[in-house]
Amino acid sequence: MIRRLAVAAALSGMALWVCSVGAADEPPVYDAKGAEGCLKCHDKPPDTLILQTPHAMQADSRTPFADHACETCHGPSPEHLVKPPEGEPRAPTAMSFVRGSRNTVAEQNAVCLECHNGDHQINWKGSAHDFADVGCASCHHIHVRKDEVLEKRYQAEVCFECHAEQRAQSLLPSRHPILEGLTACSDCHNSHGGIVQPLLTGATINDTCYPCHAELRGPFLWEHAPAREDCTLCHFSHGSVNQGLLKVRAPFLCQECHMAPYHSSSLYGGDRLANPTPQRELLGRSCMNCHSQVHGSNHPSGVRALR
Ligand code: HEC
Ligand code: HEC
Ligand code: HEC
Ligand code: HEC
Ligand code: HEC
Ligand code: HEC
Ligand code: HEC
Ligand code: HEC
Ligand code: HEC
Ligand code: HEC
Repeated sequence: MIRRLAVAAALSGMALWVCSVGAADEPPVYDAKGAEGCLKCHDKPPDTLILQTPHAMQADSRTPFADHACETCHGPSPEHLVKPPEGEPRAPTAMSFVRGSRNTVAEQNAVCLECHNGDHQINWKGSAHDFADVGCASCHHIHVRKDEVLEKRYQAEVCFECHAEQRAQSLLPSRHPILEGLTACSDCHNSHGGIVQPLLTGATINDTCYPCHAELRGPFLWEHAPAREDCTLCHFSHGSVNQGLLKVRAPFLCQECHMAPYHSSSLYGGDRLANPTPQRELLGRSCMNCHSQVHGSNHPSGVRALR
């Protein structure tokens, strides 16, 4: 009970609840029939699908159904249970989570955060999504058998609703297999916030990549400084028009940093392509024709990333 009152206090929507209950100091009135009362009318999917989810596990004392059932989330709503006068709409519940809800997003999220305030949600406050007023219910669906955002295969579609740029990137010729469900946005991003921008799961960009690209973690006898520092100096994460998710094609990629008055900065002319000794810096894998170990080398004489 004390916990429930704490929720009520946490919600700045309290005023709304208060008027639906009566005087300010009266405790909120919950339907004694619990879920049964609501399910009498809300007896069809999607409303009833919640019964097949962990939230409806009454035996688990942490769940809403072990508490005031539907009203744990939708708030104490005695007026909603009263038959409206002929021709008038039914009074709303105290809390609604749908688009256009009269409750603010902060009020809605406070309901969920009452229980989900540890573990992964601990960094929610002040995170990019919290700051942008994105609701828990914008990503999570409660009245479904299986929440899409928790499924690798369907998750991206949820994110793409708002992140159109990433949708476009994920369709480019070179890309992480996100649409195939082999990599999920949540492999690299923590939607609930974190200390590493932009919402990365790793302690650095590289630490975000290493769990799957472990062979590039090193340590290498001969490091290539930029690969140790930041994979995104050369690679896009979501998609690219260049092979290998590269931001820029070689030789230009390498020449962004290597300007020595030596072969590395020479572009030579296109006419050299037809030369009897074809231009090795430009054809095939370009600089990587010789410098194949761009991520670092463990060969004793790999100092120039040649082997
Ligand atoms: C006597 C029938 C009846 C009972 C009992 C009932 N509802 Fe409703 N409820 C309705 C009807 C009808 C609507 C649709 C109103 C509309 O679309 O204008 C509705 C709409 C809703 C909505 C969507 C609109 C809103 O207010 O956000 C929610 C949420 C809701 N009910 C939750 C509940 C909960 C929780 C309970 C139990 C405490 C409950 N209902 C009990 C008939 C009922
Ligand atoms: C009264 C406490 C309570 C409230 C309020 C609550 N939850 Fe939960 N939720 C739980 C418990 C308990 C579980 C089961 C956790 C487990 O099994 O480890 C759960 C599970 C979940 C899961 C995982 C579901 C799955 O299929 O694995 C999601 C997502 C979730 N809640 C989101 C929400 C959102 C969004 C809200 C607000 C609209 C919310 N919860 C409100 C207690 C609550
Ligand atoms: C931007 C989309 C997004 C938003 C907004 C969001 N979530 Fe999630 N949530 C996810 C994704 C993706 C997962 C699964 C992977 C993960 O944990 O990152 C998840 C997992 C969960 C889980 C189950 C796994 C766990 O952490 O135990 C719970 C519970 C949960 N979220 C609660 C919440 C609550 C509460 C809010 C609002 C404060 C919220 N989420 C807001 C995307 C979101
Ligand atoms: C864990 C919190 C939670 C619980 C418990 C819960 N709901 Fe909901 N309800 C939501 C959220 C969030 C939405 C928004 C749509 C969605 O996520 O599926 C919603 C949407 C609805 C809607 C549609 C609202 C609209 O305006 O169209 C109805 C009706 C509803 N719930 C009724 C119920 C009933 C009946 C119960 C109990 C059997 C219940 N809810 C239990 C969180 C909850
Ligand atoms: C309801 C809309 C919405 C949904 C759904 C959504 N986001 Fe967001 N997201 C935003 C907004 C708004 C921002 C903050 C403004 C911005 O940077 O675009 C944001 C910011 C982010 C950022 C940080 C960007 C930065 O520059 O710091 C990441 C990463 C992100 N979202 C990933 C995700 C992922 C992953 C999902 C799906 C699990 C998701 N978002 C779902 C609206 C959404
Ligand atoms: C392989 C890891 C990885 C995956 C998978 C991934 N991202 Fe990212 N994302 C990153 C990295 C790293 C950055 C920051 C550097 C960059 O922009 O390349 C980023 C940046 C972002 C940004 C901020 C962009 C900006 O311009 O500030 C958003 C938003 C975002 N990602 C959303 C998503 C969404 C949505 C998905 C799923 C469809 C997704 N990401 C999948 C690694 C990933
Ligand atoms: C969840 C695992 C996972 C994470 C995390 C991950 N990747 Fe990948 N990456 C993959 C998979 C799977 C492929 C596709 C391999 C294939 O097609 O053979 C891939 C392919 C690539 C490719 C080659 C693309 C091509 O077309 O050959 C590059 C470059 C790449 N990832 C860079 C990164 C970077 C940079 C990060 C960190 C920001 C990262 N990856 C994080 C799983 C991951
Ligand atoms: C200096 C630029 C540069 C940096 C920094 C860099 N890469 Fe690469 N990466 C490349 C080039 C160039 C290729 C293409 C190699 C080829 O064609 O032989 C490549 C290819 C890849 C591939 C494809 C498979 C392979 O091994 O050839 C993956 C995966 C990859 N990089 C991941 C990463 C990760 C993860 C990081 C960060 C630890 C990273 N890269 C940092 C330039 C870079
Ligand atoms: C973001 C900048 C950057 C990019 C892009 C880059 N490099 Fe480097 N590279 C460096 C730095 C810094 C060093 C270390 C130089 C030093 O120690 O003097 C280095 C060292 C090298 C060395 C060893 C040189 C020596 O003096 O031992 C080779 C070879 C090399 N890079 C090749 C490449 C190739 C090939 C590419 C394109 C795939 C590339 N680099 C892209 C920054 C870059
Ligand atoms: C035909 C093979 C070949 C190609 C193609 C090639 N290199 Fe080299 N590169 C070498 C060799 C061999 C060395 C070592 C020379 C030495 O140790 O004196 C070297 C040395 C370097 C160095 C170190 C220079 C220094 O001052 O120590 C850099 C940087 C470099 N290459 C960058 C590039 C870039 C960028 C490209 C693409 C434009 C490229 N290389 C293409 C063979 C090649």
